[in-house]
Amino acid sequence: MANLIDRIEATLRDVPDFPKEGILFKDITPVLQDGALFNDITEHFRARYADQKIDAVLGIESRGFIFGAPLANALGVGLVLVRKPGKLPADKVGIDYELEYGTDRLEMHSDAVKPGQRVVVIDDLLATGGTASATVSLAKELGAEVVECAFLIELGFLAGCGTEPQEPSLDATQHQ
Ligand code: PRP
Ligand code: MG
Repeated sequence: MANLIDRIEATLRDVPDFPKEGILFKDITPVLQDGALFNDITEHFRARYADQKIDAVLGIESRGFIFGAPLANALGVGLVLVRKPGKLPADKVGIDYELEYGTDRLEMHSDAVKPGQRVVVIDDLLATGGTASATVSLAKELGAEVVECAFLIELGFLAGCGTEPQEPSLDATQHQ
């Protein structure tokens, strides 16, 4: 595992002042372009959850899809898309959550997980934890049991690991 972390750290590209001045952007594209490394990352997550009776993987749009799809496939379970607003076509639930400036929103199809199902939430990056926390709230609203949230990278200085799931201000919307 330590070796895997070293390889990821050595392969990630730090891009200063992106998307704006003062931000050091963690670019995962070199990791994805390294086929052996990408495969080992998927295998690491698969091994972690193989005996956890996982029913579904919840991938958070958009970079969470990248890691969620191969993990779901490797575990032999379904992939649920947690999407940005206005993308999902059928009955859905949504949650608004706080950003540093303003708010954002995530949505899931209402029938994407069933009550009691055990799910893993996956995304590329844990920063403030707002995105993951909102996803956990959505999954719980649908009755799922969130076994764990998995990330490729944590920005430790933001202490996202200590984020509590938000009190959901959830709403269900019909076909749009
Ligand atoms: C980034 C990243 C995580 C989220 C982490 O996504 O991929 O999803 O921010 O931030 P947080 O922990 O502070 O909530 P972004 O919204 O930039 O979109 P993308 O995945 O579509 O690129
Ligand atoms: Mg994202």
